[in-house]
Amino acid sequence: MALVFEMRKVVLGIETSCDETAVAVVTSDREILSHHIYSQIETHKKYGGVVPEIAAREHLDRLDHLIKEAVFDANLSYNDLSAVAATSGPGLIGGVMIGMMAGKTISATYGKPFIAVNHLAAHVLTPRLTEDIKFPYLALLVSGGHTQFLLVRDVNDMVELGTTIDDALGEAFDKTAKMMGLPYPGGPYIEKLATQCKNPALALESFPLPKPLYKKQGCDFSFSGLKTAISRYIQAVPDGAQGEGISQKDACNLAYAFQNTIVAVLKDRLKNAIMMARQQSKTEITQMVIVGGVAANRAIYDGIKEMALLSDLECVTPPLSLCTDNGAMIAWAGIEQLQQGISHSLSFPARPRWPLSNLSQNNAQNISLGIYK
Ligand code: KG4
Ligand code: ZN
Repeated sequence: MALVFEMRKVVLGIETSCDETAVAVVTSDREILSHHIYSQIETHKKYGGVVPEIAAREHLDRLDHLIKEAVFDANLSYNDLSAVAATSGPGLIGGVMIGMMAGKTISATYGKPFIAVNHLAAHVLTPRLTEDIKFPYLALLVSGGHTQFLLVRDVNDMVELGTTIDDALGEAFDKTAKMMGLPYPGGPYIEKLATQCKNPALALESFPLPKPLYKKQGCDFSFSGLKTAISRYIQAVPDGAQGEGISQKDACNLAYAFQNTIVAVLKDRLKNAIMMARQQSKTEITQMVIVGGVAANRAIYDGIKEMALLSDLECVTPPLSLCTDNGAMIAWAGIEQLQQGISHSLSFPARPRWPLSNLSQNNAQNISLGIYK
């Protein structure tokens, strides 16, 4: 058993940056040995969004147990681990600190390297856990907090090609859903309503929506104008804001119009992103990935895939359970770092903000100087 583990890396990954408490054990030969998630969605639902202090308390309550369970289910002891990886930012600072503290404690107790993982980089690297994705590739990260096109040149070399200048895409889904009286998180509810739309042409005619930055240079996004337009439609419906709400038919039409507009905007921005990625990469780009919770949306995935194929790009998304926040993506990002000989000092700070453009700089400053070698 010990010999096997010397050849392959086994990493414990801890994710606590938002509203999922998640732990997993993953190997360098791409096996997920255990995968545990406690979703706090039910807790935050009544507030219509994530409440940071409550999220931190829930992480505190659940994390120890989840870690024990993940190591036990992987049929391992802490001594069998090659390293411990924890999300170190960006994210809600209370949760990030709790996850890091747990990871650092295991690292110090069992003499294992600690790996500080950038949550966004982990999302972007996850398709390499499940598919044969080679550097360089183009990534579209679309979650509740982030909307970015990235040129992924290596584990610690990612170039942001474009980002949102206001709301994240998941946030736009969530805010639109909230205005329509749907539960949090709203993305899946909007998608469901959109698929129930009986007359797409009528939906687009009844609810014309703006497409901010459409056909403009670059690959940035803007979604706040969309939200304002939707709010006006809802206000205009008699009793729309406070009363019974909009009819089921209008809700389906509005959801369809919203989703359709998003797909059109994403496809337009993707065209430019592909051009920019190809200009900035020395090696040919043949693959792209979509990651983050919004990648679960079928219409968005299909639209992006269609546009990618037109540009000779293979388009891949990880399975749904690895698209949304999870521990396996953190463990895998840890493995990617470990394979490059990188681990971090136990003094690595929790970073509420940690742009991907800073990845290698942070690593250079924080490489552990052989304490665990
Ligand atoms: O990556 P994620 O689980 O958490 C972070 O934000 O990091 O993404 C959650 C976001 C939420 O805004 C949620 O509404 C959105 O992903 N989402 C969707 C769908 N499923 C989840 N948005 C559109 N369509 C979906 N099917
Ligand atoms: Zn995320």
